[in-house]
Amino acid sequence: MTQDEMKNDVAKAALMYVVPNTIIGVGTGSTANFFIDALATMKDQIVGAVASSLATQERLEGHNIPVFDLNDVETMSVYIDGADESDVELNLIKGGGGALTREKIVAAVAQQFVCIADESKLVNVMGEFPLPVEVIPMSVNYVKREITNNIGGTPVLREGFVTDNGNLILDVKSLKITDPKALETELNNIVGVVTNGLFANRSADVLLLGTQQGVKTITL
Ligand code: 5RP
Repeated sequence: MTQDEMKNDVAKAALMYVVPNTIIGVGTGSTANFFIDALATMKDQIVGAVASSLATQERLEGHNIPVFDLNDVETMSVYIDGADESDVELNLIKGGGGALTREKIVAAVAQQFVCIADESKLVNVMGEFPLPVEVIPMSVNYVKREITNNIGGTPVLREGFVTDNGNLILDVKSLKITDPKALETELNNIVGVVTNGLFANRSADVLLLGTQQGVKTITL
């Protein structure tokens, strides 16, 4: 089975977490795109969706799925999104596609967070995937120095990339993340950081993992 086939399998498996007659949150990336395409087959059963990026909004609208502004929505039954890494406690690294801030906001509002990923994303210790940090443009060099001097790892500016919020991304390489909650909080306390791609203080509730043996469901 290819990686895309595993992504497609978990995307379809996630449909059983979609609660009929509610608004759901939809993530960003190639796995989320498989999910959006699968969601289109049951679009008449939901009220609509909140998108975690402009790209996701476009894809949802392409399927004629109603897209709601988060400010017009009080709650969502579920948020379904991919990840760049997950550990066994369902802490995640996200933001490979640069949508981490909107993803974190939508995840915070949803009642349940279902992460969909292929088996390559499950790791023992997170950090091999560079940790994305969204920063206000004028603070890039200050935040770089703070990370290098006080936290560790090597922050590298993502060249030629601007987020949907008009900000920049530092990808922090060579981290060994042994305390994801503490690192998430510490990074967010640096002035100029909008948020970082660690989803540990609000981790996933369910991980659907696409494997060669089929879809595995991991919960805490
Ligand atoms: C985008 C994300 C994605 O969920 C993450 O990058 C995984 O992407 P893919 O499903 O393409 O492997 O966080 O900001």
